Amino acid sequence: ISKNLKDKNMKEKAYITTPIYYVNDVPHIGHAYTTIIADTLARFNRLQGKDTYFMTGTDEHGQKIEQAASARGKTPKEYADEISAKFRSLWDEFEISYDHFIRTTDEEHKQTVQNIFEKMQANGDIYKGEYEGFYCVSCETFFNQRDLLENNCCPDCGRVTSLVKEESYFFKLSKYEDALLKWYENDELCVIPKGKKNEVVSFVKGGLKDLSVTRTSFDWGIKLPKSANDDKHVMYVWLDALINYLTTLGYSRDNAKMDFWPSTTHIVGKDILRFHAVYWPAFLMSLGLPLPKHVAAHGWWTIDGEKMSKSKGNVINPREVANAYGLENFRYFLLREVPFGQDGDYSQKALIERINSELGNGLGNLLSRIVGMSAKYSDYKIDSKDVIKFHSAELDEAKGYLDEAIKNLENLATNRYLEDLWKVVTLANVAVAKYEPWSLVKAGKSDEANALVALCANLLAKVAILLSPAMPKTCAKIADTLGFSIDTASYESLVLKNEISNFMAKATEPLFPRIEKELMGEARGLKEEPKVEVKAEPKEEKKEDEIISIDDFAKIVIKVGEVLECERVEGSDKLLKFKIDLGEEQPRQILSGIAKYYEPSSLIGKQVCVLANLKERTMMKKYVSQGMILSASDGSLTLLGTQGKVKNGAIVG
Ligand code: MSP
Repeated sequence: ISKNLKDKNMKEKAYITTPIYYVNDVPHIGHAYTTIIADTLARFNRLQGKDTYFMTGTDEHGQKIEQAASARGKTPKEYADEISAKFRSLWDEFEISYDHFIRTTDEEHKQTVQNIFEKMQANGDIYKGEYEGFYCVSCETFFNQRDLLENNCCPDCGRVTSLVKEESYFFKLSKYEDALLKWYENDELCVIPKGKKNEVVSFVKGGLKDLSVTRTSFDWGIKLPKSANDDKHVMYVWLDALINYLTTLGYSRDNAKMDFWPSTTHIVGKDILRFHAVYWPAFLMSLGLPLPKHVAAHGWWTIDGEKMSKSKGNVINPREVANAYGLENFRYFLLREVPFGQDGDYSQKALIERINSELGNGLGNLLSRIVGMSAKYSDYKIDSKDVIKFHSAELDEAKGYLDEAIKNLENLATNRYLEDLWKVVTLANVAVAKYEPWSLVKAGKSDEANALVALCANLLAKVAILLSPAMPKTCAKIADTLGFSIDTASYESLVLKNEISNFMAKATEPLFPRIEKELMGEARGLKEEPKVEVKAEPKEEKKEDEIISIDDFAKIVIKVGEVLECERVEGSDKLLKFKIDLGEEQPRQILSGIAKYYEPSSLIGKQVCVLANLKERTMMKKYVSQGMILSASDGSLTLLGTQGKVKNGAIVG
C-alpha cells in the first residue's frame, strides 16, 4: 500500500476548474462550452497519467440571484437548489468527468470564505471605508463613472447600473499592482491566449484601485466572520466565488487536496478574465499562496451572428443540440469551430457540415475502410509486420502531427489540436487512394496490401487515443472495433513512442450516420426546429474495390421522366420541388438539392433520369419525395438526360 501511495504522490498533479455558474438562469451553450473544454483537458491529463482533479459547481449568492428568486416568488435558497440541480444533471447527462461539484451555499465553503477573510485581515489587507460608485447587478461588478456608457450603462453588458453609497470593507488591491505586473512578465503562459493577456496587462498598468469586498444593501451572501463583529455586511459575491477554488481543495480546513495547488488551469470566459487574472492572484498573494499555472480565457458564442439573449429568443439549449446531433459531435464542433480565445458563431449549418465531412467522410470513412479491407484480405486480422518496411515515411509524418496536437491541446488551442489529428486521418485516407490495396491484391502483392491496411489501422489508433479526451465514446468504439485499448500505456507506446501494434478488427456500424443536408440553414434557434432527423446513410460506404454483380444492378430502376413543374422550396436555399412524368398514372413529386445550379423555370419540359424504386421519404417535415433525380457531380451538379427525346418512363440500363 505504501508503495502505491508513494507512486500516487509522485505523479504529476493537475487541477482543472470551470467557473462556477450563476444560478439565475438555466445552462446554455456558453456554459456547455466552458465545461466541455475543461472536461477535455481533464481527460487529457488523466490520459497522460497525471493525478487529476477536476471541479465545477454553482455560484449562488449575490444581488442578482436574490432578485431572480424574488421575481419568481421563491427564497434565494429554494431557487438556487432548483437551478444548481439543473446544472448538475446536465453535466451528468453529458458525462462531464468532474471530481467535485461545489455549491457556494455549502457549509464548508462559508467557513473557508470566513477563514480567508480573517487571514486577509490579519495580513493587513482589509480596511473599512465607504464605497461610492456604480454597480452593475447583472455583472456583479463595481464601476467608476468614467468607465460607464451613456446614461450610466454598464460597459460590459449595457444594462443600467445603480449608484451605490455604502459602508464597505476594502481589499488592498492597489498594493499588488507591481507584483501582478511581474507575474505577467515572468510567466509567459500565466494568462492565455496572448492577446487576452495583453488586455489584462494594460488594465493593470492603468492603475488598480482597492476593491470593495463587502456589501450592506442586501442579505443574500456569506456573513463576515464572528471575529469581525459586524453583522451588517455580507461578502462581495466575487470574493466568495473565487475562493471556491480553494474550498474544493480543503484549504484552511483539512487541506486534504492542497497538493493539487498550484498545478492549476482555470478555464474561464473572456468576460470574467479580469476577476481571475487580476483579483484572484492578488487574493492568493495576500494569503501567501503560489499563483495558478494558467488562467485560460475563451471567447463568446453568438448565434447566427447575433448575441445570444432571452429577449431575442435565440438562446441555445445544449441538451437539445446534443439530442439532435449527438453529444460527441457537438463537443467536436465546439472545440473545432473557433480558435480558443476568439468569438465564434454557432449555426446548425456549420455543425452539420463538420459532422458530415470531417467526422463522417474523414474519420468514420477511415474506420469503415480498414474494417472492410481487413475483412476481405485477412479475415479481420491486421498484422503490422511489414508496416515499417513499406510505410516508415507515413509513420514519421504522422508523428510530427501528433506531437503538434499534444502541444496545442496543452495550450488549449483546441481547434489546432483537432486540425492536427485530422491531418493524420487524411494521411491515412490518401494512402488508401494512392496505393490502391485492391490493385495490389490483384497484382499478387498481398503483403503490401496488408501493410497498407495495417498502416491505416495504426494511424487511426493513434488518432483515437489522442482524440479520446474530446470524443471519449466515439474513440472507445473505434478501439473496440480494432481491438485495442485507450489508456496511459497505449498513449505512451502508440503515441509518444510512435510504436506500432497488431489489431483484430470486427464488423461495425458507420460511426457517424449522415445528417440530411436539407435541414441546413433551416431553423435559426432550435426553438422553432427542436428535432433534426438524423438518418443512417442510405447507401453503404462506397468501397472502390467493390465489384457488384449484374443482379445487384438489376435491383436499381432508373427511368427517364419529363419535368412538368419545378419551383423553389420556401425556407431552403438548396431544394427544388419537381413534378415529373415517369409514364405512370400520376406524376411523381421529387425534391432535389440542386437549387444553387438551376433556375426552376429553365427545367420545365426537360427530360431527366430518376432513380424510381427508392423508398419514399419526407423532407423538411412536410414534403414527400418519391425518387431521386440523378446528376453528375464534379463540384457543381449537372442533371443527367438522354441524347435525344425518349418516351417518358423509358428504363435506363
Ligand atoms: N459566476 C460567475 C463565475 C464565477 S467563477 C469564480 C459567472 N457565471 S456565469 O454563469 O455568468 O458564466 C459562466 C461562464 O459561462 C463564463 O466563463 C462565461 O464566459 C461563460 N459564458 C456565458 N455566456 C457565454 C457565451 N455566449 N459564449 C461563451 N461563453 C459564455 O460568470
